[in-house]
Amino acid sequence: MKLFIDTGSVAEVEEIAAWGVLSGATTNPSLLAKEQGSPGDIIRRICELVDGPTSAEVVSDDARGMVAEGRALAGLHEHVVVKTPFSKAGLAACRELSSDGIRVNMTLVFSANQALLAAEAGAAYISCFMGRLDDISIDSAQVLAEVVGALAPSYSDSQVLAASLRHPGHVVQAAQIGCEVATVPAKVLRQMLEHPLTTAGIERFKADWQARPEFAEWLSGLVAGRQAVAAG
Ligand code: E4P
Repeated sequence: MKLFIDTGSVAEVEEIAAWGVLSGATTNPSLLAKEQGSPGDIIRRICELVDGPTSAEVVSDDARGMVAEGRALAGLHEHVVVKTPFSKAGLAACRELSSDGIRVNMTLVFSANQALLAAEAGAAYISCFMGRLDDISIDSAQVLAEVVGALAPSYSDSQVLAASLRHPGHVVQAAQIGCEVATVPAKVLRQMLEHPLTTAGIERFKADWQARPEFAEWLSGLVAGRQAVAAG
């Protein structure tokens, strides 16, 4: 499963992209509205930083407006994927944009039936929201499994993207269910790093090594020798 970052913050993308784990990003109007500066500049910068698919969402209610906004957003950067909301207009816009070679992420999908319609409209990504389902006491893992199961036999061109992820458990569930992508907020990505045994283990290894000062000297020499060879 590929990991995308779910954010409108360039600073967060800079921080997490440095870990080498990101394959793309998703924004939405709410996330971008929290940031200072031009949305276009932010979207372009995120595209450069993740060097992969970066979703930017249309806001029109009608298909014609969505298509016009989608074409304009796609012109910002080659990595832009146009997000259209799930609706009759969103489906029509998805079909038109996809037919023009513009990749579409159909968002706000909450059922397998909606996902099947999105796939038929040519969506490259289908964003199924876990957190918002859990918020209304619907088992998001069950819905996501239904979406993945419904698309798997016939729709290899549409990737299921687990969205609205609120904690590390959601990310693991999305992977176990077979989602191709999970888009994860920076806070949850940071939580995914943590385990007390990892921290304790690093401290123990370091302390044991430092108890043998000649070992530190040997390793410094090894590194210096290697660098000298590389420098010619
Ligand atoms: C991403 O594509 C979605 O817009 C985002 O994950 C929604 O998350 P939320 O439900 O926490 O707002």
